Amino acid sequence: MSAKNGSIKLVAGNSNPALAKEIANGLNLTLTKAIVRRFADMEIFVEIQENVRGSDVFVIQSTSFPANDHLMELLIITDALRRASARRITAVVPYFGYARQDRKAGPRTPISAKLVANLITHAGADRVMTLDLHAGQIQGFFDIPTDNLYASPVMVRDIRERFDLANVMVVSPDVGGVVRARGLAKRINAPLAIIDKRRERAGESEVMNVIGDVAGYTCILVDDIVDSGGTLVNAADALLANGAKEVYAYITHGVLSGGAVTRVTSSRLKELVITDSIQPTEAVIKSPNIRTLPISALIAEAIGRTAAEESVSSLFD
Ligand code: R5P
Repeated sequence: MSAKNGSIKLVAGNSNPALAKEIANGLNLTLTKAIVRRFADMEIFVEIQENVRGSDVFVIQSTSFPANDHLMELLIITDALRRASARRITAVVPYFGYARQDRKAGPRTPISAKLVANLITHAGADRVMTLDLHAGQIQGFFDIPTDNLYASPVMVRDIRERFDLANVMVVSPDVGGVVRARGLAKRINAPLAIIDKRRERAGESEVMNVIGDVAGYTCILVDDIVDSGGTLVNAADALLANGAKEVYAYITHGVLSGGAVTRVTSSRLKELVITDSIQPTEAVIKSPNIRTLPISALIAEAIGRTAAEESVSSLFD
């Protein structure tokens, strides 16, 4: 595989080496030799050990836990590539951390997603490729071309293989996720329900109102991120309380912080399906009700098309 103008190089940070390797395999390439190591004080040092002058370089790095270290690695790798005269640098960030801070949530709070977009751009990235951004509008935080890929084709294939679609209802666990859930429901021709979380009065606990009749259905919750697992587990309980037959979840990014894996494992959720946009931990791999779908083929295809100057959006038609 070679780019339209010059060779393709893939450089991996330390966030998800397994995914980077799979992407490289999918493109019949090997990862460019690079050293990413620490000084004694934990400063990050990078050395690209192959010539990249004139190359179309893709840096593969999710800004997942520890988010700040992985972000800094991405920035420093990009700087090294720019100074080594790479022709074009694409930051491939399957999980874009900080995306949830995409607006001023209150007075005197930051818009960190915009700050991170600025940092990536100023480090020298010419393009960004990411997956299921928390909000599509975050693309507008970058003044460079940004491709937001969707995991839905991979999820839809899996859902079709496993479920009797006649009895499936897709559910958005909150009002903010309706567009994403509706998109998936449309692809499998299933009805849609929405969970509306409401705190009637300050200090009172949140009430989960299920909009739609889920009784008797196999419900599939669709979301972009599972972090603490709270949203997911509460949504599953609300659906079961409203008569759902069983509840599954398809969520792109398995952030799964703190006790999330235990929370999911001991919940009434039949199965949580995530992608490997974030490297699964041992606990995730061992969990009896968490399954990981590989996303490397989709990303490899998108990288190949970008390098060949072909359409990426048609991957999702
Ligand atoms: C929020 O808007 C996101 O789409 C997820 O629903 C949220 O990040 C999940 O977080 P947690 O698992 O901590 O409830």
